[in-house]
Amino acid sequence: DTQIAGDLTRVLISKEQLETRMAELAAEIDRDYEGRDLLLVGVLNGAVMVMADLSRALRSRVRMDWMAISSYGSGTQSSGVVRILKDLNTDISGMHVLVVEDIIDTGLTLSYLISNLKSRNPASLKIMTAFRKPEAQQMAVEVSYVGFDIPNEFVVGYGLDYDGHYRNLTSVGTLAPHVYS
Ligand code: PRP
Ligand code: MN
Ligand code: MG
Repeated sequence: DTQIAGDLTRVLISKEQLETRMAELAAEIDRDYEGRDLLLVGVLNGAVMVMADLSRALRSRVRMDWMAISSYGSGTQSSGVVRILKDLNTDISGMHVLVVEDIIDTGLTLSYLISNLKSRNPASLKIMTAFRKPEAQQMAVEVSYVGFDIPNEFVVGYGLDYDGHYRNLTSVGTLAPHVYS
């Protein structure tokens, strides 16, 4: 981590802060879903780290499934085009579903995903996101669990990428200018 951590100009959220917050949210989710079967739906690729940490911080037994959906491509701006690259393996009708995301930026990805999943008639459908950028949001999305609200800057780490890189950073921060050139 130390080598790629050198590409950051500023750490916004440390590994320790992430650990603490994920444990807090896991405890809330344990309480809220007590006695119910829960399916966690991770949104590939970004949600891999959140899913791994959140799910292991839970005390309840859950299922996990994945969807791959992309709107960004390799740029730093949303392209506005949402594509399903991989659908769920699970039929979610009648199931309690919690969508697990790394970040809500414009809200485009999740507003599309939520209306798509709603049409499959789950028993309940909620959203958990590690990060949210309130200033960047264009589409209203109702979120039940938020890790951190962050400023409208391009950040990487903990699943967030720049051209596919930096997802494996354990903290979240802004990239140094030399990385872009
Ligand atoms: C990123 C991020 C969210 C989405 C948020 O995914 O992981 O899924 O963008 O942006 P939005 O709120 O503006 O829609 P991306 O499309 O980059 O794919 P990735 O998860 O594979 O990086
Ligand atoms: Mn994503
Ligand atoms: Mg991305």
